[in-house]
Amino acid sequence: MRRIKIFDTTLRDGEQSPGVALSPDEKLAIAKQLARLGVDVIEAGFPIASPGDFDAVRRIAEEVKGPTIAALARTAKPDIERAAEAVAPAEKRRIHTFIATSPVHMEKKLRMTPDEVVQKAVWAVKFAREFTDDVEFSAEDAGRSDPDFLVRIFGEAIAAGATTINIPDTVGYQVPWKFAELVGYIIENTPGADGVDWSVHTHDDLGMAVVNSLAAVRAGATQVECTINGIGERAGNASLEEVVMALYTRRDFFEAETGVNTRELYRTSQLVSRLTGMVVPPNKAIVGRNAFAHESGIHQDGVLKARETYEIMNAEIVGREAAVMVLGKHSGRHAFKKALAELGYEVDDEELKRLFARFKEIADRKKQVT
Ligand code: KIV
Ligand code: ZN
Repeated sequence: MRRIKIFDTTLRDGEQSPGVALSPDEKLAIAKQLARLGVDVIEAGFPIASPGDFDAVRRIAEEVKGPTIAALARTAKPDIERAAEAVAPAEKRRIHTFIATSPVHMEKKLRMTPDEVVQKAVWAVKFAREFTDDVEFSAEDAGRSDPDFLVRIFGEAIAAGATTINIPDTVGYQVPWKFAELVGYIIENTPGADGVDWSVHTHDDLGMAVVNSLAAVRAGATQVECTINGIGERAGNASLEEVVMALYTRRDFFEAETGVNTRELYRTSQLVSRLTGMVVPPNKAIVGRNAFAHESGIHQDGVLKARETYEIMNAEIVGREAAVMVLGKHSGRHAFKKALAELGYEVDDEELKRLFARFKEIADRKKQVT
């Protein structure tokens, strides 16, 4: 089994969700829960962004033990100094520095030539290494960058001292086949590739953040950057709980494992949803209200006979109550009888027939019969 590192960026990219602003106390509470969850790295914030962000990162660095605490910085001196100061108290600290590498970002946003971008990246990695020996370098918009330019800049960043190289699909443009090809090409061709962690960071603009990250794992990525409930800039990031449970449930295929305690997933999701105010859709995989609920009679009958007929994982493994049977108009006699028994009613076949007919009438009018 390959060990895949989970880099949680709920407190940084997740907090970039429009309408979300967490106080330092709230961030600390989430960071403590992320440590219980067993993530490898917590990206605690972007310290140059505001005094509140700096305070939150600093307090997390002081109080949260276990995971590496990372702070984000552009390739600029004040950013790196502020990030270094914020993570200084951490047992394990990382500076994560980034610069854009796609033609559109370099020309239109940075107004820099590719050579200038490489120079700046190299300078930033070397400067960050003066504060910690754990430095991550990201090529922003790698998903739309020239693969050979990425090979060049990553090779230079590694030579300058970067220990993790991140390949972000910043705008969620990639599709799994192409992303796997890109990640595989980069790892195969970058000088010094063997000595670093290869990370991916995907966005969900086309609904493919999770699958792109998983494809990258198959192509050799050793770290996945993700957020609880998939929150993040625009359509969000790869959902941590989905990445972790896909790797776990299909370990036969991925031959990879994480250090996450899956039984803490649901609790973490609920905490993040409550503190950010971002509601989890009912049909959201793993953590949505309906993710382990069965309504149709055929499914209920199957699950009551053998859970594995319609369940690929137990609810308990993600820290939830056992699967629930929702009584609605699609429900069958088997689930209805079980619900009556749970309420303490033993009925004979004749009575069951009469009550079931009555239940169906009510179910036609109500969405759910309680
Ligand atoms: O999406 C992105 O490119 C980022 C970087 C800062 C890693 O969030
Ligand atoms: Zn991002």
